[in-house]
Amino acid sequence: MSSLEFDPEDSFKPPVYIVGAGPGDPDLLTVAATKAIAKAELVLYDRLVSEEILSMIPAAAEAVYVGKLEGEQDKGQALIFRKLVKAINIGKRVVRLKGGDPLVFGRGVEEWLFVKNLGCEVRYIPGISSGLAVPGRAGIPMTARGLSSSFIVVTGQLRKGADKSEEISRWKNYGSLETIVVLMGVSRRKEIAKYLIEGGKDESLPVAFIENGTCPRQKILRSSLGEVAAGEVEVSAPAVFVVGEVCRYSEVLLSDVIPEFKFGTDNFMVANSVENRK
Ligand SMILES: C[S@@+](CC[C@H](N)C(=O)[O-])C[C@H]1O[C@@H](n2cnc3c(N)ncnc32)[C@H](O)[C@@H]1O
Repeated sequence: MSSLEFDPEDSFKPPVYIVGAGPGDPDLLTVAATKAIAKAELVLYDRLVSEEILSMIPAAAEAVYVGKLEGEQDKGQALIFRKLVKAINIGKRVVRLKGGDPLVFGRGVEEWLFVKNLGCEVRYIPGISSGLAVPGRAGIPMTARGLSSSFIVVTGQLRKGADKSEEISRWKNYGSLETIVVLMGVSRRKEIAKYLIEGGKDESLPVAFIENGTCPRQKILRSSLGEVAAGEVEVSAPAVFVVGEVCRYSEVLLSDVIPEFKFGTDNFMVANSVENRK
């Protein structure tokens, strides 16, 4: 048997914990996630797990970064699988720590099935997804009576194999929903905004980008769909892109969110429009 094969008869294997790390602020970790991290012997973690959460990994445990580079997702995933098998075989208590919720745009289900198919037990601990928590931390409710009775959380990336017309009709369909939350949409923000306008959304519709939500470098950019479509809004990843009238609430509600902000407000930035950023 090679060292990369799993032998369920070999000896007792502890379950693998697939754990959601939430959007960044350690106060937003679940109690179950905190306990799992505290007992870990090996933590395999992704790019979006914050420094503050990584500092909670016990000193005696090994922490291994397994974040994937753009365009090398499949290669990166194969490496994660190999590392999981190795760790399981030596009987380590493994925590697979993923940003937000592991089952929201994170290939968490593939890793869950992979471990399960090896015959090893899995314990799954959900996390607070950035798609849900980050807008709220920016004072943006996803729904608000009279303004938005629906929301959708979507990927801004192109679907594998999709052609342009499929993409346009995908965004047109989203146009009927009042609040659209886009993850992984920073690099394609201009196209996305154009498609939504073509699909009937008004150019003046408010939008917000929340960079590094709930983290010390959180930054909120408020703008309009038309300005984004015109390429006038500079944004850095990671960011949650929110489209909808509910973004207006941020101006009123944000002041109630900032005092709770764990890391202080020194670096907490808000830009109301493209002009204000200059
Ligand atoms: C691969 S997806 C993973 C989502 C994750 N599983 C979740 O539930 O939040 C990565 C995207 O999530 C969003 N994201 C995750 N954490 C974020 C944060 N703290 N602030 C802003 N955006 C974040 C960004 O849109 C980023 O491109």
